[in-house]
Amino acid sequence: MASRRLCVAILLLVTGTAAYFRRPPYPKGGRPELWMSTSKLITGRGYRPESHEVRTADGYLLGLQRVAARRPRPEPTRGRGTPVLLGHGMASNSEQWVLRGDSLAFALVDLGFDVWLVNYRGSFYSRRHITLSEKSAQFWNFSWHESGVHDQPAIIDYVLTVTGRPALLTVGHSMSSTVQLVLLAERPEYSSKVLASVIMAPPALFHRTVGFSEAADRVLRHFPHARDTALRFLKRDSTLAAPSSIPFCYMSGLGKPPSPSCTLVMDFIFGEPFMPLNLTYFQIFMAHWPEKASGGQYLHSAQNFRLGGNFYKFDYGPFKNKELYGSVSPPVYNLSSISSPTYVYYSMTDNTVHYKDVEDLAKLLPSLKRLHRVFGDTFNHVDFFISSVAYERVYMHVIQDLLRHV
Ligand SMILES: *[C@@H]1O[C@H](CO)[C@@H](O)[C@H](O)[C@H]1NC(C)=O
Ligand SMILES: *[C@@H]1O[C@H](CO)[C@@H](O)[C@H](O)[C@H]1NC(C)=O
Ligand SMILES: *[C@@H]1O[C@H](CO)[C@@H](O)[C@H](O)[C@H]1NC(C)=O
Repeated sequence: MASRRLCVAILLLVTGTAAYFRRPPYPKGGRPELWMSTSKLITGRGYRPESHEVRTADGYLLGLQRVAARRPRPEPTRGRGTPVLLGHGMASNSEQWVLRGDSLAFALVDLGFDVWLVNYRGSFYSRRHITLSEKSAQFWNFSWHESGVHDQPAIIDYVLTVTGRPALLTVGHSMSSTVQLVLLAERPEYSSKVLASVIMAPPALFHRTVGFSEAADRVLRHFPHARDTALRFLKRDSTLAAPSSIPFCYMSGLGKPPSPSCTLVMDFIFGEPFMPLNLTYFQIFMAHWPEKASGGQYLHSAQNFRLGGNFYKFDYGPFKNKELYGSVSPPVYNLSSISSPTYVYYSMTDNTVHYKDVEDLAKLLPSLKRLHRVFGDTFNHVDFFISSVAYERVYMHVIQDLLRHV
């Protein structure tokens, strides 16, 4: 077991390097849909994409896509034109929300919501800055904390200005949930601009290791000093690709079923998927994933494991911590200051976030409305947007939650 895990860890490292060089440009071959951008995917489904650009307080220029209905609909609609932000996970971007015809994004548009797709700093559509070059270390010097205190509020303010609304709804998968929690904890005044937040598979507490973190933990436990060395390797200001399943899954991007090695790696990172796999969705996802990320995003999560699993702020080391936070070790985010309604979705076979950590997180949210465990034995971290049952197991319920706040 241990040696299998070690092999997988090594493979991940090697293939992660390959992924770094992967996008763009897109490789040739396969169905054109496999390599389409967010706007093309939206157009391909018969909706109208609108591109927007948001400037953050610290100078990042973020690409934002609005999804407009096929044709203007007769009023009134159930969603009443309420703006909804859909946020993506780490090493991903807005493409994850438009990979499929029955995606949450399109379902919400059909119901009369005003849907906006977010792209956090560093992702493909958000690699510009007013002064910094994408090639500089300074550009990549961030963790998900900065997306929480800068990106998310800038996007919320922008959308509220454009739509003339006082408040909106947010839906976040994985890192986007973390980002929303950081925003509401750090800038509680934003609770009044958020009608409700839906968070799916939220990584915030890391008391338990699972999948990749468990393997890393097991290996590093045998080498007491290696843990800190490993963390030092992970530079806050570096550009990383997510550990990719390439080359095992690469062929899936070209329209072939996943090989056993692909399945092994995917199950390891994301958990056991809902079966049968919907090959079409899996292939489109594989063609679009992974996306670049910053070393700081991984480092911040890794630090939280090492510090005992609480939802800590970034650890800069004792001196800078003292200067920034007034304490030698980083403080935890104050989740009790979140006052807008929160709905939490999670699943049992998620290998990225342990289900018990999500249950513990839910207990810390004072404005929790509902903790929703996805029905069924297997449903993994990315099944939230690639499983063929995502609509009935997740989106249908999310829609009911959102409709309560329009
Ligand atoms: C990254 O940010 C930290 C904290 O603000 C700062 O101390 C460091 O000098 C920055 N590094 C680069 C390369 O910008
Ligand atoms: C994937 O799921 C969708 C929605 O349930 C379905 O329409 C499609 O036929 C499925 N495709 C495959 C190859 O399973
Ligand atoms: C956390 O926020 C709550 C509510 O705003 C406040 O009462 C409490 O003092 C805060 N705790 C810390 C440690 O700042």
